[in-house]
Order: sequence, then C-alpha cells, then structure tokens
Amino acid sequence: MAVENIFHMNGGSGSTSYTNNSTFQMQASDMVKRIIVETIAQLYHEAFPKTIGLADMGCSSGKNSLPVIKTIVESVEKMARLSAEPPEFCVYLNDLPSNDFNSIFKALPDFFRQLVKERNGTGRCPAIFIAACAGSFYGRLLPKNSVHFAYSCYGLHWLSKVPPGLYNEKGESVNKGNLYISESSPPAVSLAYFAQFQDDFSLFLQSRSKEMVCRGRMLLILLGRVGQDNHVDRGNSFYWELLSRSLAILASQGKIKKEKLNCYHAHFYAPSKWEIEDQVRREGSFFLDRFEMYQPEKTCDDIGKSYGSVVAMTVRAAQEVMIRHHFGLEEDDDGVLDTMFEIYGNMIDEEMAKEEIKPFTFLLVLRKL
Ligand SMILES: C[S@@+](CC[C@H](N)C(=O)[O-])C[C@H]1O[C@@H](n2cnc3c(N)ncnc32)[C@H](O)[C@@H]1O
Repeated sequence: MAVENIFHMNGGSGSTSYTNNSTFQMQASDMVKRIIVETIAQLYHEAFPKTIGLADMGCSSGKNSLPVIKTIVESVEKMARLSAEPPEFCVYLNDLPSNDFNSIFKALPDFFRQLVKERNGTGRCPAIFIAACAGSFYGRLLPKNSVHFAYSCYGLHWLSKVPPGLYNEKGESVNKGNLYISESSPPAVSLAYFAQFQDDFSLFLQSRSKEMVCRGRMLLILLGRVGQDNHVDRGNSFYWELLSRSLAILASQGKIKKEKLNCYHAHFYAPSKWEIEDQVRREGSFFLDRFEMYQPEKTCDDIGKSYGSVVAMTVRAAQEVMIRHHFGLEEDDDGVLDTMFEIYGNMIDEEMAKEEIKPFTFLLVLRKL
C-alpha cells in the first residue's frame, strides 16, 4: 500500500498522541517566529492583497499550526491597522488523508474565541476562513494563484515513498536490517534515497509554483544534514540507527518477525544544504531568499522523564502507525510497542551520556519568481 494512504501522526489527545508529544516541533516553530513575522511584512508591503491565501503543508492535528496562523494574522493586522478595509484570510490546512483533521476543527471555536477576547470586544476580529485540504503535498492541492504564503514545518523530510532503488530485481532489500542509511549500507542506498528526494522535492516546488502568486513566500522547516558526502551522523541518521537496534532486540525476543525487519525502511531523507539549493535552482520557479540552520536545545519539560524517553515518545507519535502496519501489530500489541520505545528511550539516554545527539533543522525562505 502507498505510504500516503497509511502515514499519519498519532491522532487524538492521548498519552501517545502527536498533540502531546510534539514539543520538539513546537520549539522550532517558536524559534522561527521572528522570521515568519519578517517574511510576512515583506510580502504584505510588496503586494497589499485584500484576501491573503495561507497554506500549511503537513499541519498534523493542528497544535503547532494554529499558533503560526495566529502569528501571521497578527502581523498582517498590525500592518493593515490604518487601512479602511482589513484583509481577509483564506487558510488551507493540508495533510495526508488519514490525518486527524477532526482535532483541528474541534480546536477552532477556542482559537476564534481567543482572538476575539484578545481584541477586547472591539469587533475588529479578522475574517479568517479555514479549510482542510487532504492529499499529498507532492502534487497539486490548491487552485492556481491562490496562495500568498505557504508554510511547512517538519513535513518535507518525509518522502512520498520508500525509494524503489532499495530493492534488487528479486525484490530483496539491499539495505537489510537498516531502517535508514547507516555505516553498513552499500553506496546504492544513499543514492536511492537522494534520487527519491530529488523527485519529491522537485514535484513539491512545481506544485506550489502553480498554486502561489508571483512574489509569494514559502517558509520551509525540515531536518537536514550538515556534511555533503557523509549521510551518517550523530544527528538524524543516528536516531534511525538506534530505532533499528531496538527493533532488532524485539525480533531476537520473538516479538516481531526477523524477516520483516530486513525489509523495513524509513521513507525519510535528511538533505544537505547543497542538495536543497541545487534542486531549487534546477526547478527554477523560486529564489532562495534565506537559509538558516539550527540545533534546537534539548527539551525535557516533563518532570521526572528522561530526555531519551521524551524523544522516544516524539518518535513513537510519528512512527507507530508505520511500525504497526509493517509488522502487522494490532491494538492489543500495545505492550510490544511500549517495550520497544522504552528500549529506544534507554538507548538514547545511554548514548547521550557518552556524546550529544542533536538533529539539524534547516529553515528556508523561498520567493516565487
Ligand atoms: C512531524 S509532523 C509536523 C506537523 C506540524 N507541521 C508541526 O510542526 O507540528 C509532519 C506532518 O507532515 C505530514 N506529511 C508527511 N508527508 C506528507 C505529504 N506527502 N503530504 C502532506 N502531508 C504530509 C505528516 O502526515 C505529518 O502530519
């Protein structure tokens, strides 16, 4: 089955939900707030649109998306304070079809109530029309010229599929036992991942270029890698390596099938800065106005929880559905997943005690030509 029909973050608001395990992602969108405000100011001063089209590509259940929309609306409001007719906002929230869109809609009444409250009943609450848009952002989603500002936070390192180049003519994996690119992966593996990233990112840019107005801005946040030639680092790839090791322990305990482990691979790629710049240049519809790199600080705001267990829950919220699907785990196999993510969290803590593991986050601001 295609990844886009299965993949989603854990929905709802339970203990393993994305909503309750996405502090890392929230921290990043807070960190770039200043850049969102600056980019919106540039855009607004150049165009003064009466209706501003906003799109969040890969919004998940909305916890981190709605505050970003609020930031954008407030920035525009400040700039439009003196205009007789304040702009209206048309917001498209996109994610894959099995995403928990309901949680977003349930949060909307409070979102609007808060906006009204903060304006102390002045009656000047902005007109914001929010719609969900289900489908893959690796393809057209929205009408032509309908978007002024597109945003995507931690969505674009997810590929549209596991690269087909990971399998030989007999359909066997050439990256056996590895979830992602690792020390033991043959060179064909990183080439296959890179080729898939090129196809996907190019399709993303092409699709957005049709949907966005001229001089519209796109702000993208994604995981990336620092070395050009080295895919194996103590940032992103190491987290996959530890997940592979945790799954191997479960397989050795007979809790999951060993043969299934050999063909389980992540649909993930951490591109380098050069790979991104090159693809933007080749596709040709956007100019890269800004590129920044961050290493968000360790988050561990749950008193009594180790850093490893917080990371493990963040990864679980994003990977549980894929692991369940691949290994055929049912609802009553929760215990298997609990054990696995406990092992994973402990491994992270042990490794962190030796040396930091910190993923790199890239921020890009692209301008539609
Ligand atoms: C880690 S979550 C980030 C959610 C949110 N942007 C945030 O910052 O908290 C990544 C989201 O991207 C979505 N996603 C991944 N691939 C996608 C695709 N091809 N099309 C649309 N959404 C996608 C996932 O379903 C997931 O909800």
